[in-house]
Amino acid sequence: MGIKADVKVDILFGEAGAEEAARREAVTVVIDALRASATITTALAVGAQKVVPVGTPEEARAYLGRPGHFVAGERRGMKLPGFHFGNSPTELVRHGHLLRGGVLVLTTTNGTRVVRAARAGNTVILAGTTLNAGAVARAALEMARREGRDIVLVAAGEDEAHAEEDFAGARCIAGHLERLQNTPVACEPCPADLASLFAETPSAQELFELGYRDDVFFCARRDVYEVVPWLKNGGFVAYGTHQAAPIPRRRAE
Ligand code: MLT
Repeated sequence: MGIKADVKVDILFGEAGAEEAARREAVTVVIDALRASATITTALAVGAQKVVPVGTPEEARAYLGRPGHFVAGERRGMKLPGFHFGNSPTELVRHGHLLRGGVLVLTTTNGTRVVRAARAGNTVILAGTTLNAGAVARAALEMARREGRDIVLVAAGEDEAHAEEDFAGARCIAGHLERLQNTPVACEPCPADLASLFAETPSAQELFELGYRDDVFFCARRDVYEVVPWLKNGGFVAYGTHQAAPIPRRRAE
């Protein structure tokens, strides 16, 4: 017998979608598949203890030189001057030994901006993408059920325009939620050929031109990580390793 669906799932878009998720106090999954969500997930997977999203390069720069901190980010896809890393998950994999136990401070054009928009309310925020779709779906559902919240998947988009790769990430997570709740979510299934879909997007074309070809194909994979980045006290930590800590309570209505 099927499990009755008890948690509503919606897919919304961009900063406006994140603000709406915040108004609903939903469990909010921010999806920037190329590449912010992949970078956050990979940083935690290779052993960083925390990823702190900040809005501007100047805010990020303030952390340079702080012991145990690494500064990463991009503008128009390019690594920022003086930063340790770009917004590149493959770069983090190559330098994983440095990151172990450290804090990564990250600023990106769209991903971290949308995370900030979602922070407006008493929201639970996760970072998700195709790479950790199943793990994110399970964690989001567990949190939503425990807290009596809905789930909103926010496809971050590119400068407020629709980004097909982010929507694909949302559809992959929605597909897992659909199976977990045994109920249809009103969207198309996760695309079968993520590599082709990602490679044809404007974001990927830009990354190819900048020499980040490996990042595109690294990000266009499904369910390779169990890590679920959860925003707690201003930084993403791996949900599960910090499960004992209380999740912020929903405001009384
Ligand atoms: C963003 O947050 O705008 C993207 O992750 C950009 C990028 O791929 O570097």
